[in-house]
Amino acid sequence: MDWGMQNRLSRIIKPRTGHTVMLAVDHGYFLGPTRKLESPRETIKPLLPHADALMLTRGVLRSSVDPGANTPVVLRVSGGTSIIGENLANEGITTSMEEALRLNVSAVALSIFVGTPYEKQTLMNLSELVNQGEEHGIPVLAVTAVGKELGKRDARYLGLCCRIASELGAHIVKTYYCDGFDKIVESTPSPIVIAGGPKLKTELDAFKMTYDAIQAGAVGVDMGRNIWQHDYPIAMIKGVRSVVHKKHTPKEAHDVFKKEKAKVDKRKPKKKK
Ligand code: 5RP
Repeated sequence: MDWGMQNRLSRIIKPRTGHTVMLAVDHGYFLGPTRKLESPRETIKPLLPHADALMLTRGVLRSSVDPGANTPVVLRVSGGTSIIGENLANEGITTSMEEALRLNVSAVALSIFVGTPYEKQTLMNLSELVNQGEEHGIPVLAVTAVGKELGKRDARYLGLCCRIASELGAHIVKTYYCDGFDKIVESTPSPIVIAGGPKLKTELDAFKMTYDAIQAGAVGVDMGRNIWQHDYPIAMIKGVRSVVHKKHTPKEAHDVFKKEKAKVDKRKPKKKK
């Protein structure tokens, strides 16, 4: 692998632990002003020091992230659809490789929609991006998107998507955690990160999912809503980090969470009786 490609990958997947906690804040590209991401700068700023990488679009990067920030960027370069449009799978490439280079990103990301009428289009998007990425030393992260069909998140389907992404040259594959996840990891030569998906009932559920994914061989998470839709986002990301980088159990991560939460509560002004 070329030096530039390796260097960029090691900015994202930390060589010290071989793992990564990426913070996903790209949801607006098809969901619009998602709850608690209405003002991206406000959501991102306090979390930035705790993220190994930030996944977002160029619009939010330019408008809402200080260029002096040293957090590696994974730039979402696919889109062109919306949650109220005809078909979420009908994505194109929205951002050129030159723009990605100008923004000094560490990787580019796109979604693939396997099993949809836009399967070929999105897989060719991936292939073309990998061709360009290889030319410029920019890794490509492929998201095995499920659109509105969250029920598609099973090992047979996701295993197929991940393997295809890997065969087409994706340097990192992002998918969902599911039963039989170890089989997906086994049959996908590229490193895998998991998305968090919609916010789970409790923080412990999120730590457990992260723990199970890491145990099964994921290199980390690219998580959004389970972190920033929580009332204590910094406590959440710290708990997730402890699982990913320190091999903490869900209970240990929950202790990290509770300690951080207590600090925040202590700083809150007391309500008058
Ligand atoms: C959408 C994405 C999101 O970044 C991804 O779903 C991660 O966020 P969350 O943890 O909220 O699911 O790639 O296609």
